[in-house]
Amino acid sequence: MKFGNKSFERIGFGGWQLGNSEFFDPMSIEDGINLVKKSVELGVRFFDTAPGYASGLSETILGLALKDDREKVFINSKFGHRADGTTNFEVASIEAAVNESLLRLKTSYLDSLILHNPSMDILKGKTQHFQEMKRLKEKGLIHHYGVSIDSYQELDAVLANTDCDVIELLFNVYSQSCIPLFDEIIKRNILLIIKVPLDSGWLTGKYNEFTAFKGIRSRWTVDDIYRRSNLTSRLKTMVGDDDLTKYALGFILSFDAVSVVIPGTRTINQLTNNLEALNYQLPNHLKSKMIQLYQDEIKNNQLPW
Ligand SMILES: NC(=O)c1ccc[n+]([C@@H]2O[C@H](COP(=O)([O-])OP(=O)(O)OC[C@H]3O[C@@H](n4cnc5c(N)ncnc54)[C@H](OP(=O)(O)O)[C@@H]3O)[C@@H](O)[C@H]2O)c1
Repeated sequence: MKFGNKSFERIGFGGWQLGNSEFFDPMSIEDGINLVKKSVELGVRFFDTAPGYASGLSETILGLALKDDREKVFINSKFGHRADGTTNFEVASIEAAVNESLLRLKTSYLDSLILHNPSMDILKGKTQHFQEMKRLKEKGLIHHYGVSIDSYQELDAVLANTDCDVIELLFNVYSQSCIPLFDEIIKRNILLIIKVPLDSGWLTGKYNEFTAFKGIRSRWTVDDIYRRSNLTSRLKTMVGDDDLTKYALGFILSFDAVSVVIPGTRTINQLTNNLEALNYQLPNHLKSKMIQLYQDEIKNNQLPW
């Protein structure tokens, strides 16, 4: 995949977990740096991060690990959720926030800057956010700009009202509502980044209804867990394997609109496992069954993130 002046494989690196001991199992700065360096060694060239990830530590770790490889990697960061844990979407704060990200990332530019789950008013183009990001692009601080969003309604609004060329979207086997808008994404040459590709871990097959969830995953109700557990069992039977990872990532990669998938990666084993999807092509009959599973069980009763 080539976008702007950078090339990358279609599996990238989700950086939310880097140094993030609040929401995930603890990771030291040193382990984070080693994980990022290993990923570059294995060919990963696309990195997703945000100021709000691990109070700025995700960007800091990427900066330390990537400083000798800056020109060969694509770094996407965000605006709206700050390193100090506060939320600030004020247009007048964008440039200062980008400069703080650049300091942590030890670089002079972001390959892309996206708004981190902005409000519907912003997505409908009722504010000056996109004009301001265009100005920062002309100034050379960022090379591309866009949004990170979750739903069909949000994607529809962005496509109808903005000129952005980067969209980070929640899309996976359990969350397929945006497929009807993919043709438009292809038509406009938008960089489509897929977040939460493993449904926060469920689509690896490692969880079931008896798993005790902590950290960021304690958000699920008993009903959410029960439904996901049933769906996961059905997927295992469908593909004939208990490790669902390559099938789940293969499903996403089977859509031409998808530029890059960014599984949240916490260990070197997870990294190598996720990269195996690059050498796997999901057969059409499994893709059709996964779409049917969504149509039958989820479409009219969506699972919460
Ligand atoms: N609003 C936003 O813009 C937004 C929101 C969410 C995510 N993101 C971005 O998207 C990335 C991915 O989303 P996500 O991390 O929420 O969800 P995800 O990629 O669906 O799931 C990540 C989790 O799956 C597990 N995992 C990953 N690879 C595995 C493997 N090969 N085998 C077993 N387990 C594996 C890890 O669980 P353990 O922790 O148990 O090891 C990891 O924490 C994030 O890192 C972030 O960069 C952006």
